[in-house]
Amino acid sequence: MQTRPFGRTGRRVSEIGFGAWAIGGSWGAVDESDAVAALNAALDSGVTFIDTADVYGDGRSERLIRQVLKERGGERPFVATKAGRRLPQQTVAGYTDENLHAWIERSLTNLAVETLDLVQLHCPPTDLYYHPEAFDSLDRLKKNGKIRDYGVSVERIEEAIKAIEYPGVVSVQIIFNIFRQRPADLFFDLAKKKELAVIARVPLASGLLTGKFRADSSFADDDHRKFNRHGEAFDVGETFSGVPYDVGLAAVDRVRKLIGGDVAMAQFALRWILMFDAVTVAIPGAKNSAQARANAQAADRPALPQSVMDELKAIYDQDIRPHVHQRW
Ligand SMILES: NC(=O)c1ccc[n+]([C@@H]2O[C@H](COP(=O)([O-])OP(=O)(O)OC[C@H]3O[C@@H](n4cnc5c(N)ncnc54)[C@H](OP(=O)(O)O)[C@@H]3O)[C@@H](O)[C@H]2O)c1
Repeated sequence: MQTRPFGRTGRRVSEIGFGAWAIGGSWGAVDESDAVAALNAALDSGVTFIDTADVYGDGRSERLIRQVLKERGGERPFVATKAGRRLPQQTVAGYTDENLHAWIERSLTNLAVETLDLVQLHCPPTDLYYHPEAFDSLDRLKKNGKIRDYGVSVERIEEAIKAIEYPGVVSVQIIFNIFRQRPADLFFDLAKKKELAVIARVPLASGLLTGKFRADSSFADDDHRKFNRHGEAFDVGETFSGVPYDVGLAAVDRVRKLIGGDVAMAQFALRWILMFDAVTVAIPGAKNSAQARANAQAADRPALPQSVMDELKAIYDQDIRPHVHQRW
C-alpha cells in the first residue's frame, strides 16, 4: 500500500482508505460482525485512513471504529469524521459555535479520543461558505485541542473553491469517480497549488462501478439506493453519483469492455482514481471483509495506460456528462 501526503498537515495516509458510511446505516442491514471484519480487513491490508461521520447510523459507525481500534491497539490510523448533519434542517443559522462544539464533543466520546484527527463540515448549505463565523468556531476548536485539523465535504466544486479561501481548511472531500470527472478539469490544479488533501468519495458510484448490478437488481427499503434514487432524502448526487440507474448500467457495460485480464471492475475503478496525483485518498465503502480487502488491493494494480484513460473520458463525455457535469 502506497501512502500520500495528507495535504500540508505533515501526515501521510494510505492512498486507499475505508469509507465507513455503510457500516453505520442507510445501506440495508450490515451486522456487527461483518462491519468489524470489514474494518479489520482494511486495516490488515494497509489502510491507514478511515472516513466516518457523526450521523452514520447515528454514531454507530464512529463507535464501531472505536471498538475495533481499541481491540487492535498499536498505531492509530487517521480517522476523519464530519459534523453538521445532526441539524434537523440544514440552515446556516444552525452552524452555531454551541452546536459545533456539542457535535464535536459527541464525536470525541464516540471515538474515545481527546483530539479528532480531522473534522469535515458535512455538506452544509452553500451559503455557509460565505459565513466566516463557522470557520472561526473551527479555529477555536483547533486552538482548544479538540480537533487537530478541519476540512470540508462538499457537493459542488464551486463550494470547494470558496471554502479553501479559509486558511484553516486543509482538506476537501468531493465525489470523484469514472462517472464524476469534473473535479479533474476544474479543481485539481488549484488543490495542488494550495497543497490541499483531496478525499475522493463515492469512488464506486455506490457500487455501480463494481459491475455487479443489473436492471432487476433490488435493494432493501432502508438502502439509499432504493429510498434516495431521486433525491427524496438527501442530495441525489450521493446515490449512484446522481447518474440515472439505466444510464449508469449502459455505461458500465462500456467500461467492462476496457478491463483486461482478471481485474475486478471495482479495483479498476479505484485504480483510475489513483491515476490523479491531486487525489490524496480514495475512500470506498465496504460491508464485509472480502470487499474491504479487494478494494485495498486496488492500490497494487499497475497504472492504467493512457489509451484506457482516454476511452474512459470518452465514455464519461458521451454517456454520463449530460446527466451530472452541470449539476455538481
Ligand atoms: N456527504 C458526504 O460527505 C459523503 C457522502 C457519501 C459518502 N461519503 C463517504 O464516502 C465513502 C464511500 O462512498 P459510498 O460508501 O457512498 O460509496 P462507494 O464507495 O462508491 O460504494 C460502496 C458500496 O459498494 C459496494 N462495494 C464496495 N466494494 C465492493 C467490492 N469490492 N465488490 C462489490 N461491491 C462492493 C458495497 O455495497 P453493496 O455490497 O451493498 O453493493 C459498498 O457499500 C462513504 O463510506 C463515506 O465515508 C461521504
